[in-house]
Amino acid sequence: DTLSLHDALPICERTLSMSSPMAPAIGPLSAELVQQLLSAALAARQHSYAPYSKYLVGAAVLDELGRIHAGCNIENAAYPQGWCAETNALGHMIMAGGRVARAVMVTGPGPDIITPCGGCRQKLREFAKPQELLVIAADPGGVRQHWSLEQLLPASFGPEHLKNL
Ligand code: THU
Repeated sequence: DTLSLHDALPICERTLSMSSPMAPAIGPLSAELVQQLLSAALAARQHSYAPYSKYLVGAAVLDELGRIHAGCNIENAAYPQGWCAETNALGHMIMAGGRVARAVMVTGPGPDIITPCGGCRQKLREFAKPQELLVIAADPGGVRQHWSLEQLLPASFGPEHLKNL
């Protein structure tokens, strides 16, 4: 019996704490915007369906219009079919018409600093110039660390490669 009741329950049946810790300004992002990203990612994390790993993740992507799109990880009994919170958030950005990711906030459980997996780094790469996308790691205690996508995915392959034949 590896399923925890808490992880299997839908959001409405969980005890939610909706207050976010204070967030700092980061690069071009104001403290208020970082706070909004953090709140959105932590709220999304409450929707996480992670009965297998029990590793709940929430993400929030800021698009070129200043809109925030959130997602959680969604696992599957066929393990490789699960998907990450960042991918889910990107899907929401695309469906809302966004085409450029300016920043992505990723929230895990702590205490270790969460970073987007390799597959998600590449998916984010599709919708950002690597030097221009800010990746921010946080947990329920607040923002922990930040990088550019270039730092996390150097010498990357992107859409431009297919245009320069
Ligand atoms: N996961 C994410 O959603 N984002 C990350 O950045 C790291 C990992 C998920 C995938 C899986 O559901 C769980 O966390 C454990 O790997």
